[in-house]
Amino acid sequence: MIQHYTDYLETLQQKGAYRQLRTTRSDGRFIYYQNNIYLNFSSNDYLGITSNATLKTDFLNTLNNKPDFVLGSTSSRLLTGNYQEIELLENMLARMYNREAALVFNSGYHANIGILPALTNKHDLILADKYVHASIIDGLRLSDAKCERFQHNNIEHLEALLQKHRANYKNVIIVTESVFSMDGDHAQLAALCDIKEKYNVLLYVDEAHAFGVNGNTGLGLCEETNCINRIDFIVGTFGKAIASCGAYVITNQVFRDYLINTMRPLIFSTAIAPINVLWTINVLNNFPYFSDERKRLVRTSEYFRNKLIAKGFEIKGCSHIIPIVCGENEKCVTLSEKLKLAGYWTLPIRYPTVPKGEARIRLSFRPDFSNDEIDTLLNILVNENN
Ligand SMILES: Cc1ncc(COP(=O)(O)O)c(C=O)c1O
Repeated sequence: MIQHYTDYLETLQQKGAYRQLRTTRSDGRFIYYQNNIYLNFSSNDYLGITSNATLKTDFLNTLNNKPDFVLGSTSSRLLTGNYQEIELLENMLARMYNREAALVFNSGYHANIGILPALTNKHDLILADKYVHASIIDGLRLSDAKCERFQHNNIEHLEALLQKHRANYKNVIIVTESVFSMDGDHAQLAALCDIKEKYNVLLYVDEAHAFGVNGNTGLGLCEETNCINRIDFIVGTFGKAIASCGAYVITNQVFRDYLINTMRPLIFSTAIAPINVLWTINVLNNFPYFSDERKRLVRTSEYFRNKLIAKGFEIKGCSHIIPIVCGENEKCVTLSEKLKLAGYWTLPIRYPTVPKGEARIRLSFRPDFSNDEIDTLLNILVNENN
């Protein structure tokens, strides 16, 4: 009986697609693995908050002043797990976005597999960008709605689908990421808002890789493009630039109430632990002070991107995520190993995370990479490319 599984794992190994867990230690900037130190180009710690000693000390001091603090939420929010701090965080988020309501979840994965199925039924249609994250795809699978994908970032194709289908469905929801996790490019949020208003449909935007980074105050690409009030569901996560865990949606009060009554991952899972929520609140309280990190992040990633382009690389995107597309899995794994030997932690991303034949090294930037560190990485990539 077990042979089937062993055979499958062997096939994965032959295809260069075998995944394994490595036991690592990290202080944010560096990864420590098997007695070696690597510069960490594979995390989503875009502002360097995991290793921010001041924030950490402040936070631990706050905990000392909370004698009633408990470590577990102990049940779903609908039972006994709806503690004060979780609502404090929701009120804080709603205020930051100047919108009616926010709802917090255990993770971005929970948000994406829960919100769309809760909001839709067989009379509805979901139109999702071709490159949306696996968690959104799983949400589409769990939904009873009809789902269609529009070509990546192609507003004309989206409009053609709306012209064809809008009249046949009760509600239609357009779904996109704002900064795409694997390509690092931006959705055209203003154009998507125009379209959603023109066809009287809803818009759902996953800001996982933009929250904390984009926009004057870090609220995301929706802030940078002045679209906050035009998007029906702004989803963000705390596990990336915020260096915590959990997620939220910014929406109106009716949708918040509706989700509380219908969203299965919210109803049927133990609420996120209070310590994570307190840490998230602590980080968000310091949000205004990260504008230097945001600027440095833009500078370091632009520096690298421009140099790569000058050396003849075709680089997708325009953000702190820079993919080096290698093509086949084996080529990508070999490049990753070479970079590892040179002290860079840059893991290969393969199918099904990205399309077949588009395996890549996904480089994610931090504000504290130096030009020297970036130049050395660049030289290795250029040598490999020749
Ligand atoms: C675009 C996007 N949305 C959602 C998620 C899931 O978020 P979380 O890690 O909080 O489950 C990810 C994770 O990588 C992501 O890239």
